[in-house]
Amino acid sequence: MNSRTGYEAIENASIDEIRGLQTERLRNTLQYVYRNSPVYRRKFDEEGVRPHDFRSLEDLAGFPFTTKADLRDAYPFGFCCVPMDCVARIHASSGTTGKPTVVCYSQADIDIWAGVCARSIYAAGGRPGDKAHVAYGYGLFTGGLGAHYGAERLGCAVIPMSGGQTGKQAQLIRDFDPDIIMVTPSYLLNISDEIARQGINPAKLALRLGILGAEPWTESMRVEIEARMQLDAVDIYGLSEVMGPGVAQECVEGKDGPTIWEDHFYPEIVDPDTGAVLPDGEEGELVFTTLTKEAMPVIRYRTRDLTRLLPGTSRSMRRMSRITGRSDDMLIIRGVNVFPSAIEEQVLSVSGLAPHYLIEVDRHGNLDEVTLSVERRDDAAADTDVLCAQLTRKIKDLLGISARVDIRNAGELPRSQGKAQRVIDKRE
Ligand code: DLL
Repeated sequence: MNSRTGYEAIENASIDEIRGLQTERLRNTLQYVYRNSPVYRRKFDEEGVRPHDFRSLEDLAGFPFTTKADLRDAYPFGFCCVPMDCVARIHASSGTTGKPTVVCYSQADIDIWAGVCARSIYAAGGRPGDKAHVAYGYGLFTGGLGAHYGAERLGCAVIPMSGGQTGKQAQLIRDFDPDIIMVTPSYLLNISDEIARQGINPAKLALRLGILGAEPWTESMRVEIEARMQLDAVDIYGLSEVMGPGVAQECVEGKDGPTIWEDHFYPEIVDPDTGAVLPDGEEGELVFTTLTKEAMPVIRYRTRDLTRLLPGTSRSMRRMSRITGRSDDMLIIRGVNVFPSAIEEQVLSVSGLAPHYLIEVDRHGNLDEVTLSVERRDDAAADTDVLCAQLTRKIKDLLGISARVDIRNAGELPRSQGKAQRVIDKRE
């Protein structure tokens, strides 16, 4: 770490230097997986490509993708490139159906992961000596331990609270005065409600920084959280298959989308239907190739997350724009495509409504029907009928769908303790 800037020189190296490093690391990774992974050797052979076909970054497009289904088919350890006695940790991502996806880490992987998480917390505005309350779940989920090792590496005092026990979360935050909270945005709302229920104004806490991610959230949600808690709320992105949290982090000075730590994770954007690589700036599916992983590198992993690559600002590495949603989260309502995040924007634009909502989709006959349940704020001035009419009209005019809006009293909807479940689709 540079003692003047506080961050690593590579974060702000010239584009040429970064591309040079990526080319070298990609070449090594492709050779490494071809040598050490029977699965990748077979995939490359089937595609008729060899590691030596990679000469420059554009050549990566000739290599096959890796999908979640590939990882599941190789369950549990088929993608692991090292013998089990070199594996230091195993995580798994739950997935909604079937078997989880398993990820193995060597000690070197854990070190690099702690490093990128420490870098992320620094970019977010965290500093050595800060107290960091970690409310991401500990366990097979990568959130808790990833955040924990990163905060420790940076020199923070870590409070390893994990998810759940919301009353206790609130109590410890009041008693320990952490500077940083690392948690999903939906769970932070729940915790802040609980703090208020305990008679404390969440804006008056010592908390100065929220490092929030693991689920989609909107710019309106940032505004809501920052106003209610008087802290800087920044976006952290990552996924287990690639590493965990700390693949990309929004810098607090710009709050303009996560910077991708491109020296470890090489991003591409592809057309989700054809797989063709799209130029920077165009929206598509984010694809990652790991550049430094040892136990379980992935080549061209299809995240299903939809975003764009943007030029660097606070760092020279590229940014991604806030994830609009996952391709599999998109709702098709009577032929109209809608992301839950677009509905969230509309909910938060009505001043008497709280940021707690649930979208239920069902089919009657041949028609899709959407029920959007939203809580009114305790202090809402407008009548329920007025709030209902306002939101119904916005959803119709701006998103093009007719939803039945059901306004509930504060506290009536289920609360998140981790990744929020915003959608119940009964059509499946
Ligand atoms: O959610 C890792 C993580 C933990 C990231 C803590 C940030 C903080 P998975 O459980 O494998 O890993 O889920 C990965 O979550 O593909 C996205 O769809 C979604 N996701 C993660 N971060 C964000 C974010 C962790 N900042 C999946 N914005 C990813 C939107 C996110 N979606």
